Parts: sequence; C-alpha cells; structure tokens
Amino acid sequence: MQQPLPADQRPDGWDAATAHYEDTVERITARFAQKMFDHADVGVGTKLLDVASGAGVVALSAAKLGADVLATDFSPKMADRLRERVAAEGLPNVRVEVMDGQALDLPDASQDIVTCNFGVIFFPDHAAGFGEFSRVLRSGGTALITTWGSPDRVALFPLIMAAVQEAVPDFQFTPPGSNALNFSDSAVMSDALRQAGFATVDAHTSSEPWVLPSARTIEGQMQTNPGLANLKAQITPEQFEATIQATVRILQERHGDGPVTLDMEAHLFVAHKP
Ligand SMILES: C[S@@+](CC[C@H](N)C(=O)[O-])C[C@H]1O[C@@H](n2cnc3c(N)ncnc32)[C@H](O)[C@@H]1O
Repeated sequence: MQQPLPADQRPDGWDAATAHYEDTVERITARFAQKMFDHADVGVGTKLLDVASGAGVVALSAAKLGADVLATDFSPKMADRLRERVAAEGLPNVRVEVMDGQALDLPDASQDIVTCNFGVIFFPDHAAGFGEFSRVLRSGGTALITTWGSPDRVALFPLIMAAVQEAVPDFQFTPPGSNALNFSDSAVMSDALRQAGFATVDAHTSSEPWVLPSARTIEGQMQTNPGLANLKAQITPEQFEATIQATVRILQERHGDGPVTLDMEAHLFVAHKP
C-alpha cells in the first residue's frame, strides 16, 4: 500500500502554516528572495511565474519592479493570503492561482522567468517539477531556484536536534529527516537541473541572518511547521511540546529576552534554458 505523503508535501500541511508564516519563516525567505533579482533582469512587462509562492514574498517584489506576475501555490490558504496582500498593495500586475508546481497548467514557452524560493525541496517528483519549469520557459529564459544549504550551517536544524536530545534523551532520529533539506548538496541539484534540459547552471551559496523578535516567536512556527511532521510522527505530543520549550530555552540562554538571530545558509541556482 502506498504511504500517505508527509504534511510538508500536502496542501493542507501548508494551509495550516499560513497563520504564522509571515511573522516567522518569511523573515528569512525574504532575504534570499531579494537576491534573485541580482541575477535576472526583472522589469516592466517581464513575464514571471513564481512557483510555490507561499504568502508571496517573491511575487510581490517582482510586481513592484513592474513584472507581469503569475503567482502559484498548491495551498489554497497561502493563495488566499497572497490575494489579500496583492489587494492591500494595489498591484494590478499579479494573478494568483492554486497550482501544483509539478504539473503547471500553462502553455509551453510562455514565461521569461520562473522563480521558486524554497519550494522544489518539497516536491515528491523533483524531476517532473524541473521539467515543467523548463517547458514553460521560453528559449533563453531563466529559472531562479533556492534550496537550503549544508544542514550544519542552516542553524534551525542543529538547534532543533539539540532541543530533541534535551527533551527526549533516548531519542534516535530515523531518516528521512526533513524534506526541507533536499538538495542541500548544490552539485546534486545542478545535475538535476541539467538533466531537465537547462544549459548553464550557476550555484551561489550564501548565509543570511534569520532575525526573530524573541525566542518565543519560534513556538508558533514549530507548532505549525509541516516540515517537522517526520519528527512529530516519531515522538509523543508531550515530547513534541517539550522539544518546543527546549528550543525556546536554548535560544533564551544564547540571546536573552531580545531578538534572536539564526544564520541560515542557502543555495541560489540560476539556470538558463537553451
Ligand atoms: C517554505 S514555503 C516558501 C514560500 C515562498 N516561496 C517564500 O519564499 O516565502 C514552501 C511553499 O511551497 C508550497 N509548495 C510545496 N509543494 C508544492 C507543490 N508541489 N506545488 C506548489 N506549491 C508547493 C507550499 O504550499 C509553501 O507555500
């Protein structure tokens, strides 16, 4: 019998994350989103498809540069939230549609640029997704894709592992770990993009600070983060709550009651369609 997909590969898992998303995760994804615009000409009339848009951090920025943006996500709640932001900002050049990034309901060669900020890591069929990005790009078009970097340099992961060891001392984590760490090896990702038909693939690795207002901010993020589903499945609800409290305590020990900074490494792939 086929196993059900984990929460971070299902729309309902991300629907549940919508409430805390902008206050937490978007504070770091926004930093890498901005870097995308250093690697492609995005301006008035650029046809830009943003895949796995979430609450829209890439789509909103691209629209403010004048691009003609189609923002897509498979989570209806994320799409609704982005529609609210588009309306609040009065941006007529953004359309938002619920769509799976692995099966884009769009014509061939219809886009100048495809962006996907921390989205492909959650695709169960990565090759299908990369094939779709290539199919909908025009010849000479560019895909801009981010993934998290080396697990020991993505500070959230060692932090949570330390917290689990504190809360559940005999815990043995059973792989697979979080899908969020898929393609943390940039060579593997570059190969996968070439196999999907991209000609030149450049990987840019950098680290950015994830600044949260306080240690307590992480609570809501951990409670609703679908990426922690694998961990949640391996411990009791009480142990999971104890892990959240241990995470908060470790952060308070390091940073006191003020803002918290986690250094997060990521790769930005710039891939050109021949
Ligand atoms: C970590 S969030 C990134 C959101 C946004 N791009 C950002 O940078 O803040 C991951 C997003 O990927 C979306 N997602 C995951 N799998 C998807 C799929 N197969 N098709 C479309 N969206 C997907 C989720 O719904 C979620 O909004």
